[in-house]
Amino acid sequence: MEKIVVVNHKMHLSYDEMLKYIDDTRDMKDDFIVCPSSLYLPYFVKAGYAVCAQNVYAYNNGAYTGEISPLQVKSLGCDYVMIGHSERRDIFSEDDGLINEKVKCCLDNGLKVIFCVGESLKDMDNYKDVIFKQISLGLDGIDGDIYISYEPVWAIGSGITPTKERLEEIVSYIKSLRDVPVLYGGSVNSHNIALLNEISSLSGFLVGTSGLDVLELRRIIEVVK
Ligand code: PGA
Repeated sequence: MEKIVVVNHKMHLSYDEMLKYIDDTRDMKDDFIVCPSSLYLPYFVKAGYAVCAQNVYAYNNGAYTGEISPLQVKSLGCDYVMIGHSERRDIFSEDDGLINEKVKCCLDNGLKVIFCVGESLKDMDNYKDVIFKQISLGLDGIDGDIYISYEPVWAIGSGITPTKERLEEIVSYIKSLRDVPVLYGGSVNSHNIALLNEISSLSGFLVGTSGLDVLELRRIIEVVK
């Protein structure tokens, strides 16, 4: 199976920068899945990209000021939703129960879920406990179209990545809990992608910072595809 590249824009890009990004990446649009700010989802859908929302709420509609719903995202033409990113867990205090409800609502709407897990620096030696809890509670009662993205918190935006051996061990642990495609995210860039790409148990990569730099993204895609 060909590996996938998912690009998480987080809360970056002004309106003009977003339009320029579309111009600059249009020729690669079939080679990656883009997770833009929710404001820009329709622009990427209209331009023909595979689009993933960075977050949704757990219900299709209702009095939830400021939230966006799985139904809205699906009706717009998005195919994917990312749930459980560590920034949502840590900064916005999302717990495993809420994450589980979100995943269920997304799957009910026919969205594919990119479910993020990963341990913080203090839990590095304990990664099994953390990942076991995140998967057993977050995916409780769920059997659907899911990717798991392993993103150790200490690797996100830090320039540091796990060793190949550690990644292989953790991917195999994740697969022993859930036999679904596993992605890796955390400081993926044009320099480390060749080594990361050698890990045959990985089904792709989730790229943050480097995905905003079009030249970096082009280099990453050249290695993966
Ligand atoms: P990074 O972000 O590539 O900047 O480390 C990855 C992510 O948080 O999805």
